[in-house]
Amino acid sequence: MSNTPVKILAFAGSTRKDSFNKKLVKVAAKAAEDAGAQVTLIDLADWSFPLYDGDLEAASGIPEKAKTLKKMMIDHDAFLISAPEYNSSVSGVLKNTIDWVSRPQEGEPYLVAFLGKTAAIMSASPGELGGLRGLVHLRSILGNIHVLVLPDQISIVKADQAFNPDGSLKDAKKQDKVNDISRKLVQTLQKLKTPT
Ligand SMILES: Cc1cc2nc3c(=O)[nH]c(=O)nc-3n(C[C@H](O)[C@H](O)[C@H](O)COP(=O)(O)O)c2cc1C
Repeated sequence: MSNTPVKILAFAGSTRKDSFNKKLVKVAAKAAEDAGAQVTLIDLADWSFPLYDGDLEAASGIPEKAKTLKKMMIDHDAFLISAPEYNSSVSGVLKNTIDWVSRPQEGEPYLVAFLGKTAAIMSASPGELGGLRGLVHLRSILGNIHVLVLPDQISIVKADQAFNPDGSLKDAKKQDKVNDISRKLVQTLQKLKTPT
């Protein structure tokens, strides 16, 4: 295995201050760090872009913040994403972020921020399915932009009751599952980085 630390960009698909998905991705990010990864945890609230509009892009180009986020994504090996479910799919914030970052700039390789990357996905919702249906769509979106998505995932049901005040998960089995997903992501990346 490679000794170079693997780099993971972690974020939630929610900008809400008290977001359950922000809490969940923080737990997962800590587990990935404990497994040996270098993790950058970002808040999409700091990366707000206008809604994607082809006319806007033609007139003013890709927003500078989207270009910066794209560079950050290029600089990381993988993504750790906790995605809220909105009407059985992904949140507009998450999809809009992916849409802007997917836009090509002159001279760039195809889907440069995504192609060849790996991701682990999870969700949290106050509902009974924990946002599971949104992950079906997120898995499909990421797969279609050539991100390898790990088969393991977790959806935290009744997320409004799932976290301790310090942000940790109350249920030890769920905490173990999150740790396991993060560890598998790190191990997969280490294997992929190993020179053949
Ligand atoms: C427009 C909208 C649609 C939603 N649709 C769903 C849904 O389909 N399934 C679900 O479990 N929760 C749904 N919710 C509830 C969200 O899961 C809940 O607001 C959750 O807290 C959002 O994630 P966050 O806490 O990370 O911001 C919806 C919320 C909004 C605002």
